[in-house]
Amino acid sequence: MNEFNLAETDKLLSTTRAVRKRLDFEKKVDLKVIYDCLELAIQAPTGSNKQGWRWIVVTEQEVKKKLADIYRMGNSHYLESGKMNASDQGETQNERVFDSAIYLAENFERVPVLVVPCIEVKVPANMKSTLSSALYGSIIPAIWSFQLALRSRELGSVYTTPHLEEPIKELLEIPKDFIPVAFIPVAHTIGKKFKPAKRNPLKDVVFKNIWNNN
Ligand SMILES: Cc1cc2nc3c(=O)[nH]c(=O)nc-3n(C[C@H](O)[C@H](O)[C@H](O)COP(=O)(O)O)c2cc1C
Repeated sequence: MNEFNLAETDKLLSTTRAVRKRLDFEKKVDLKVIYDCLELAIQAPTGSNKQGWRWIVVTEQEVKKKLADIYRMGNSHYLESGKMNASDQGETQNERVFDSAIYLAENFERVPVLVVPCIEVKVPANMKSTLSSALYGSIIPAIWSFQLALRSRELGSVYTTPHLEEPIKELLEIPKDFIPVAFIPVAHTIGKKFKPAKRNPLKDVVFKNIWNNN
């Protein structure tokens, strides 16, 4: 007998969405839940089992405001032009994504908790060509586990990309051999129902044995 409840597991995997407009900025988040989810996150795999991750849980308003300003400085232009391009091309789904990303950027400091996952950067001399896959591959699975664990506890989150590394490192006193990989805003959600997303069909993206063969 399968030890998992597939219906529940599949629901978790297919309804963990990028939550932005439905983040509840007013409701307090219990930090114990954040730490429980991080405990689960660090079950994720890392290259050579290095576990070079560090997680900064930011709750102080002043620090969140500074991080929000850094996020906006790096992302605002990209988000505004992304929205304009999507609108020009008639890509309504993408236009909605950019619209909601702009809303989040404008309200970034209002999220109750902002988690900053970091990863240690070490370049073994014989591994240069695979560096970025090994580096990001050693933190992004854990970030996704964190987001899944949050969702299972009725918290919402969204993976966001901070474009300006140096000011974040300086503000959070991150040592030089670590980099901040993402900003993960976390909050209770407004409403509890989330649906599976519409994706390009599997037949367009999965090939059998060789490229383009279904
Ligand atoms: C590597 C990566 C970077 C992302 N960066 C941002 C970001 O900077 N800002 C943002 O609002 N969303 C960001 N997202 C969220 C995506 O826009 C989102 O996952 C995508 O639109 C699909 O939405 P869904 O997960 O709800 O289906 C990022 C996601 C990933 C995986």
